[in-house]
Amino acid sequence: MVRRFSTTAPESAKALLGERLKFPSGKYAQNRFLKAALTEMLSVFDPSNPKVNGVPTQEILNVYDKWGNGKFGLILTGNVQVSPVHLEAPGNAMIFKEGETPARREAYTKWAQTIKQDGALAVVQLSHGGRQTPITVNTTPFSASDVKLEKEVRFLGFGKPIPLTVEQIKTEVIDRFVYAAKYAYETGFDGVQLHGAHGYLLAQFTSPTTNKRTDQYGGSIANRQRIILEIYEAIRKEIPASTGFLIGLKTNSVEFQSEGTTVDDAIEMCKAYEKIGFDFVELSGGTYEQLAFQHIRDSTRQREAFFLEFAEKIRPVFKNTVVYLTGGFRTVNAMVDAVKTGATQGIGLGRPITAEPDLPKKILEGSVPSAIHDALDQNNFAVSLLASNTQMEQMGRNSFKEAKQDVSYGLSDFSDEETVKRFGKAIEDFIELTRVQASKGVAIPAVITFEGVKV
Ligand SMILES: Cc1cc2nc3c(=O)[nH]c(=O)nc-3n(C[C@H](O)[C@H](O)[C@H](O)COP(=O)(O)O)c2cc1C
Repeated sequence: MVRRFSTTAPESAKALLGERLKFPSGKYAQNRFLKAALTEMLSVFDPSNPKVNGVPTQEILNVYDKWGNGKFGLILTGNVQVSPVHLEAPGNAMIFKEGETPARREAYTKWAQTIKQDGALAVVQLSHGGRQTPITVNTTPFSASDVKLEKEVRFLGFGKPIPLTVEQIKTEVIDRFVYAAKYAYETGFDGVQLHGAHGYLLAQFTSPTTNKRTDQYGGSIANRQRIILEIYEAIRKEIPASTGFLIGLKTNSVEFQSEGTTVDDAIEMCKAYEKIGFDFVELSGGTYEQLAFQHIRDSTRQREAFFLEFAEKIRPVFKNTVVYLTGGFRTVNAMVDAVKTGATQGIGLGRPITAEPDLPKKILEGSVPSAIHDALDQNNFAVSLLASNTQMEQMGRNSFKEAKQDVSYGLSDFSDEETVKRFGKAIEDFIELTRVQASKGVAIPAVITFEGVKV
């Protein structure tokens, strides 16, 4: 029996969270729930063979077969990379012109269909790793400037980045995002979300920590966010808003680091996103330098969402652009409260929906008042990240039908302390494996295969 956050959901929750959201370019999400982007690391990883590198696998389709039966309003893919040599992690899905093949197109077409089966909108999150590309993948990645990330993430370091020239900003970034957006449109997705948060390339431009440029892409807020606005316009030239194709953005409401983006910067930038016509903006925060997926103050602990106080400040900027807030939501009460107080229109969910892929469905039916309360260390994001990826790998082992229409079939229950203890041992083994492989220069996906049931 899983353990949940103990609370009672208000009767009004089903109707409120079940409300449709209308986007400026015309489409509707069937309710307020957003499946946040969660990197799967389950695509083909073969850097020597661009034709197959980053092709989504049957495992990914199985994962989304579960979420596609979970009654989300909008489902984002995990970060899909637009440059084959700038990954967030080995095993990322990718869309890039050098990798164009019928097999890749077929996989993306099936992916979109799988997501949409119970009415969710299917949106690809497009990203470029920039300086946050692991060193085992690229020792000299591109970035806005040459500021190296002096940290290890998933037990790996990062190379000193090379600043993009103005010409390369067009050919290596804007053109690649446009190519991938057109691809998503042609394969049946309802839209794309540009990943402008968490310290990846677009955030390396918007953040003064990593943007030391003195040209038209650095300095003022308008210059730092120029690349995002140029990508938006270049995509819209190819796919006008009249098609209904959504363009969204994930952006940081705040970065808790030296010279990081402040909430006042975020307010200014969001004014431009509203003005240019983004369909939706998902508010998040933090970077690899200073992760922010935990409570920094007790006041936010009470209201759950990590970036709530920043969302409240930013929200009045948006009139047409739909706002989602992601990070920390665990009880229906907190979700309802965030919508009622006007901090957000949509509710983004990450870790709770790898533990329970149909959480929105259960909330909308009124059968649960909260997410599963895991027994993982809440102050250690790395552990919960690995746990979520483990659950995704388990979701990927069988289709919805093979799992006898039980989306939670074979998932580890991390609300059970004994399971968490055993997982701790699996993490230790995995760290050792990663280190040994990295010392040989070999990159491996950070996916721990851990128990679960095969059918
Ligand atoms: C396993 C895992 C993978 C993630 N991958 C991505 C990603 O690909 N893109 C992204 O924007 N955020 C990613 N995130 C961040 C989530 O989208 C979300 O912002 C974060 O987990 C906070 O939400 P939560 O508290 O509901 O989990 C990831 C988080 C986890 C746990």
